Amino acid sequence: MPDTPSLRPPLCEAQAESAQNGKAAVEVTELSRSFGSLVAVDRLSLSLPAGQIFGLLGPNGAGKSTTIKMLTTLLPPTSGTAMVAGFDIARRPGRVRRSIGYVPQVISAEGSLSGYENLLVFAKLYGIRRSLRAERIQQVLEFMGLTDVQNVVVQKYSGGMIRRLEIALALVHQPPILFLDEPTVGLDPTARQMVWEHIQQLRNELGTTIFMTTHQMGEADELCDVVAIMHEGRIRAVGTPAELKAGVGDGATLDDVFAFYTADQTDDRGGYKDVVRVRRTASRLG
Ligand SMILES: Nc1ncnc2c1ncn2[C@@H]1O[C@H](COP(=O)(O)OP(=O)(O)O)[C@@H](O)[C@H]1O
Ligand SMILES: [Mg+2]
Repeated sequence: MPDTPSLRPPLCEAQAESAQNGKAAVEVTELSRSFGSLVAVDRLSLSLPAGQIFGLLGPNGAGKSTTIKMLTTLLPPTSGTAMVAGFDIARRPGRVRRSIGYVPQVISAEGSLSGYENLLVFAKLYGIRRSLRAERIQQVLEFMGLTDVQNVVVQKYSGGMIRRLEIALALVHQPPILFLDEPTVGLDPTARQMVWEHIQQLRNELGTTIFMTTHQMGEADELCDVVAIMHEGRIRAVGTPAELKAGVGDGATLDDVFAFYTADQTDDRGGYKDVVRVRRTASRLG
């Protein structure tokens, strides 16, 4: 990794402030969202300390995107509350939005514009002063490894470059908290690795709190400090990848943990634990 350009000071101040206050970066209390009779998110409670990389895992339809949309103030909850960067998502949505970056599951960059032009639009949207814009844009371009392609139209970018640009767009106002919905879906392994490195660099060097969703277990295992397994709107388990694996069985992988907690409720979980154990032992014996 090349040296990180100076995105550092403002983010570190935000980080230091939240650490000083001893506040959680994200505090979710009994948050629910229904669509008609469907309970998409069911009384979700979570607490993320500042500087954590948190992974919300779950199969399609588990409620991950609905959770992120509520926390980013795009969708009102049916009930419950959440504090993001110390602000109530229902009462202070403007302050929440200024404190977060959000990379949605769907493509958010404009294909007919260059990377630079996309960033300029976002810098204006976020009200970054004209005198600061050019410098700020160059900083995020450099941070995400896109300086050389800044004047190329996004239509010509690879999938990995588009994803990195979208992360850059979410960082232009230097938020202390970043929400990423399925950040590496559809990327090849090399592009995925590059996105992972940038996410880690953000946290390690700038102290950014990362709230991400994924259904790729390898990604969660490598990147996340803490993961929560969500199924049918509810959190089934929360812990470090190591804790969750140990809880399911000797030699279990995060894939096993995922299968264990998202299995049909009529399945015998004890039975599953046995299967994991037997399979691991068998593979060790050759
Ligand atoms: N706007 C909506 N209207 C109706 N149902 C929705 C809407 N958004 C999501 N859902 C439903 O809520 C559930 C959770 O969806 P979502 O949060 O997108 O899951 P995930 O991101 O984990 O795949 C799904 O059953 C989905 O069909
Ligand atoms: Mg989703």
